[in-house]
Amino acid sequence: MSKTLLNASNIAHSFDYQLFSNIDFDLKEKESIAIVGRSGSGKSTLLHIFSTFIKPDEGRVTLFDQNIYNLSETKIEDLRRHELGIIFQAHYLFKGMSTLMNIEIATLLSNETIDNNLLERLEIKELMQQKIGELSGGQQQRVSIARVLSKRPKIIFADEPTGNLDKETAKLVMDVLLEYIEKENAALVLVTHDEEMARLCNKHFSLEQKELKELKELV
Ligand SMILES: Nc1ncnc2c1ncn2[C@@H]1O[C@H](COP(=O)(O)OP(=O)(O)OP(=O)(O)O)[C@@H](O)[C@H]1O
Ligand SMILES: [Mg+2]
Repeated sequence: MSKTLLNASNIAHSFDYQLFSNIDFDLKEKESIAIVGRSGSGKSTLLHIFSTFIKPDEGRVTLFDQNIYNLSETKIEDLRRHELGIIFQAHYLFKGMSTLMNIEIATLLSNETIDNNLLERLEIKELMQQKIGELSGGQQQRVSIARVLSKRPKIIFADEPTGNLDKETAKLVMDVLLEYIEKENAALVLVTHDEEMARLCNKHFSLEQKELKELKELV
């Protein structure tokens, strides 16, 4: 039996209006789950709830068998630093620093070492001495993915990680993410508008009419 890494039960949340309710979700080792849905349906909010950044109005999130609302701030910080890999729409790289420094900071904080193979796979190995500000948008996106994977997280939460990329590079990034979870017994939750990328995952959900529904087939 593969281990459950994330369980969410009965999640409901509203901002100005109710975004969703009664959401149940389970993520196991080696699973890759894509969440699709219209703009504004609450996908990013749900990802923030699953990854400890927003406390929902109702329901419970369990990460690695721990109810996260019973954990101290320090424990939550530890989880974020060591176990969770967060690739969000804005990618918080340090602009004035070199590419290498940006990745080194992540590995130092999590006591890991840089995986040169990964840099090669993402085609960013040649960019290490360049400043972030000198890279293209898609190169920066791949650096932020390298930075997250270098921490060796157990769960990767990715919000439109291929949004700025051409098809070929997007496929490359997806392949790297999927190989990573297979090799490290990790798991991926991917939010995307791109059905081709969603199709590469092994389960698919749609956030619509305030509910999260499993799609047996992607059209
Ligand atoms: N911090 C916040 N405060 C108030 N309203 C918010 C906040 N964050 C999100 N919202 C609102 O919640 C709704 C859902 O936002 P969310 O970012 O989760 O959507 P999404 O499905 O990720 O959309 P997109 O596909 O465009 O990224 C939107 O109407 C948004 O304005
Ligand atoms: Mg979003």
